[in-house]
Amino acid sequence: MTATRKTSVLITGGNKGLGYETARRLGEQGWTIFLGSRDPVRGQAAADKLTAGGAEVVMVPLDVTSDESVAGAVRLVREHTDRLDVLINNAGAPGRVVAPAEATVEEIHSVYETNVYGPIRVTHAVLPLLQAADNPRVVMVGSGGGSFAVVTDPAQPVSKMHELAYSSSKAALHMITLRYAQALPAVKFNVATPGEIANHRFAATDMNRHTGQLTVTEGTDSIIRLATVDADGPTGIFVDRLGPVAW
Ligand SMILES: NC(=O)c1ccc[n+]([C@@H]2O[C@H](COP(=O)([O-])OP(=O)(O)OC[C@H]3O[C@@H](n4cnc5c(N)ncnc54)[C@H](OP(=O)(O)O)[C@@H]3O)[C@@H](O)[C@H]2O)c1
Repeated sequence: MTATRKTSVLITGGNKGLGYETARRLGEQGWTIFLGSRDPVRGQAAADKLTAGGAEVVMVPLDVTSDESVAGAVRLVREHTDRLDVLINNAGAPGRVVAPAEATVEEIHSVYETNVYGPIRVTHAVLPLLQAADNPRVVMVGSGGGSFAVVTDPAQPVSKMHELAYSSSKAALHMITLRYAQALPAVKFNVATPGEIANHRFAATDMNRHTGQLTVTEGTDSIIRLATVDADGPTGIFVDRLGPVAW
């Protein structure tokens, strides 16, 4: 009898919040978790906790803003596997809420480094490993704040949150996901937002000082759904935990 290969996933920003909860849930399903963390000490602490719970976890030092760090992460993953089933571009930065009139390029650039260039940097580096898998999937962690439909809906609180950096970075990420999906049909590229857009809810994490109404488990439902789509599953879609949402 041949041993079944375990499903493998690389999660950026896996040391805490939604990334950590995603790692925990997929680890419970028996997947091999490559847990990305820009701080190796906090990353190792997170990996040790998951390992103690029975998961198979490899901590991968990974700062999505650094070419060198991403190259090192890919080298480390390659020491363990010649293919990767799933990449979850979860790492994200909120930036400061700065009124558009006061926003500077410097401020916006730092948020784009993490939320836009980061996922491109990691995806580009990991693509050969993904393309060696049978049913490769990339999950981009987007946001209702990056949805034109949401931001232009006066009933949505985010329509009154005046800032440029975060929302535009996630809108860019959404479009980037679509363009990858169209160009690379053999790899599934989808966007998950951790909230419930219709109910104006988001998940309590450090990013929002734990003001969210959903647990991290509820917040990761959409990420888990897209990470686990089968070979006939969708590509180029945008979902929250309740289902498809408008771009
Ligand atoms: N919470 C929500 O309801 C919600 C809603 C919409 C979208 N999101 C998105 O969900 C994702 C996860 O956020 P969260 O809510 O779980 O927040 P969080 O607890 O603050 O986690 C953010 C993660 O991203 C990592 N990170 C930031 N910059 C990085 C970099 N340069 N390289 C590698 N990792 C980096 C952080 O690492 P450190 O610990 O080192 O800072 C941390 O692990 C983000 O993309 C966020 O925009 C969340």
